[in-house]
Amino acid sequence: MKISIIGAGYVGLVSAACLAKLGNEVTIIDIDEERLHAIRNRVSPMYEDGLDELLGQVHLEVSADYQKILPSDVIFMCLGTPSDESGIILVYIKEAAKEIADILKTKQDYCVVAVKSTVIPGATEELIIPILETSGRKVGDDFGVCMSPEFLSEGKAIKDFMNPARIIIGQYDSKSGDTLCGLYSAFKAPIMRTSLKAAEMIKLASNAFLATKISYINEIGNICKKLGIDTYEVAKGMGFDERIGNRFLNAGIGFGGSCLPKDLRMLVAKAKEIQYEPEILEAVLQLNATLALNMVNLLKKHVPLKGAVIGLLGLAFKPGTDDVRDSQAIKITEVLIREGATVKAYDPLAVTNFNKLYPQIQYVTKEEVLNSDAILIVTEWGEFNNLDYRGKVVIDGRRVAKAREARIYEGVCW
Ligand SMILES: NC(=O)c1ccc[n+]([C@@H]2O[C@H](COP(=O)([O-])OP(=O)(O)OC[C@H]3O[C@@H](n4cnc5c(N)ncnc54)[C@H](O)[C@@H]3O)[C@@H](O)[C@H]2O)c1
Repeated sequence: MKISIIGAGYVGLVSAACLAKLGNEVTIIDIDEERLHAIRNRVSPMYEDGLDELLGQVHLEVSADYQKILPSDVIFMCLGTPSDESGIILVYIKEAAKEIADILKTKQDYCVVAVKSTVIPGATEELIIPILETSGRKVGDDFGVCMSPEFLSEGKAIKDFMNPARIIIGQYDSKSGDTLCGLYSAFKAPIMRTSLKAAEMIKLASNAFLATKISYINEIGNICKKLGIDTYEVAKGMGFDERIGNRFLNAGIGFGGSCLPKDLRMLVAKAKEIQYEPEILEAVLQLNATLALNMVNLLKKHVPLKGAVIGLLGLAFKPGTDDVRDSQAIKITEVLIREGATVKAYDPLAVTNFNKLYPQIQYVTKEEVLNSDAILIVTEWGEFNNLDYRGKVVIDGRRVAKAREARIYEGVCW
């Protein structure tokens, strides 16, 4: 099939490279010339395991010119949908939809516009379709629309994309869904076809559930810490029950990243807009917001911050990525700087991105981080388990076994 992908971020570029690998003709569009330049040189602009190799194997048409999407059978919208306290920011989606509408004006043959971005329930029907129809073309007759959320996880995005647990196709009508089903027939996963709104909600509800599971075990962890119980023993015991499962039960300093926090904020904002008070979801966010501060409070029990040198191990929101969006390291760095500490930091991948936010801190090797008044373990990179913590003060947010050898060791929930 002829596929166009709008937005060459984590989702768009991985989707483009994988769909090309599966034998489709793929065009990728972005407005960021620097990104496009890197992709033309077959280098991924962000770190994703295996993506450079894959870009070396496939052919992608790379452009900032929307005219290039004219021959497409399917146009995927993979724009960022960040959110703030007031809800989702849809400016990128709107801009791209206008550009696609411009192309639809002159497009003779049928195509499907498929939204892959995470959006609030109703956005495809109430916002995107009306913009596409400013082309003078009619959805259902001249073009189709689907909402097919993406569930890949950064750090293992290619594996996730190629081996999805399920494929959700929200369809405007069955002709739209049939087209996308044809494309997805290459995958072994179960395909569920549903309404546009249900597909949008499946994505948000899935992420909200995962976030809830994390905040739940962190709450249990806070209680265990006060009772002198090891939360990880508790989680292990709980995990044998297959109704609970043992994944997403690693207590620590909570979730970050470009998806869970913003998807939750998006759902909370939507619920409030329709006069529903989403108490569970708000509690999940609230608890998550306190964890970084709790870690700093534990640190303060051992080292006064003013004038101290504090070392951070890990800046990315999780291991395997260079993404620092909504990383817990940001909240921790904010407090440390505000309280007069000097911050030294190490991360194997995320220094360049973190440096854009905090050029004033020192970026050093992991061994140099150890040479601080106290060390905070913020991201669970495997390599942190090979360091020599003897004689150090360590506050561990991610349960690194070796760190227990420190002179003073505190786990955040154990
Ligand atoms: N990152 C993830 O792990 C993940 C997983 C599942 C779903 N999602 C969802 O997928 C969507 C994309 O996420 P992402 O992390 O890939 O975003 P991203 O911010 O990494 O990438 C978005 C890209 O869109 C480009 N862009 C902006 N305006 C444009 C325009 N008018 N025309 C063309 N390109 C434009 C940007 O330059 C950028 O390269 C979001 O809704 C996100 O919630 C993300």
